[in-house]
Amino acid sequence: MNPKQRAAEAALSYVRDGMIVGLGTGSTADHFLQALAAAMTTGQLHGLRGVPTSRQSERRAEQLGIPLVTLAECPSPDITIDGADEVDANLNLIKGLGGALLREKVVAQNSKMLLIIADESKTVSHLGERSPLPVEVAIFGHEVQAPFLRDLGCEPTLRRNAAGQVFTTDNGNYIYDCRFTNIADPVHIELKLKSRAGIVETGLFLNLAKVVLIGTESGVETRKR
Ligand code: 5RP
Repeated sequence: MNPKQRAAEAALSYVRDGMIVGLGTGSTADHFLQALAAAMTTGQLHGLRGVPTSRQSERRAEQLGIPLVTLAECPSPDITIDGADEVDANLNLIKGLGGALLREKVVAQNSKMLLIIADESKTVSHLGERSPLPVEVAIFGHEVQAPFLRDLGCEPTLRRNAAGQVFTTDNGNYIYDCRFTNIADPVHIELKLKSRAGIVETGLFLNLAKVVLIGTESGVETRKR
């Protein structure tokens, strides 16, 4: 079993019968969806319903037979289980390399608990060390966001898909991937970004994760806030 899968399977022990579960996006979250579906098929877990955080996790859950509800129907999921691109020592995160940051943050902020599953490669001493910070922007006037972002101390790149077309999120927006070397004050950067018109959401998930499960080659390390 690989470390991502190990973390994903360990997350099952946080899920109880009848829970509403926020379903994350990405390869680690996909391992969790598979584990959840298997636990439902074997009768280990009953009566669960999922709230997807992207069209991708929605399609995958449907394929796997996980019943879905919307956030409007179930506005306060019991738990959300999702991956991350970086996790620091305070359990602050960068998310969104999979492009689902906005829906992921909405579902996470409205959940009773956010549980993150990741492998060791995601742990950092400072946010921005390894991953760019994804920033979702409205298409209108998006060009003016690049110099604004640069002034915050990063190098922004408009995200493109493998075919070279500008990547569009599930919400019809663009993403700038912002390469910082170190986000020394993430709260300050978040405030700056969120007060700028046209910036829709950022991949900084601050003070949101309660538990992080880090899968390693030999086991799973649990970090709690
Ligand atoms: C998607 C995300 C993912 O959780 C993050 O990119 C981690 O992905 P993976 O589990 O594939 O490494 O934030 O928007």
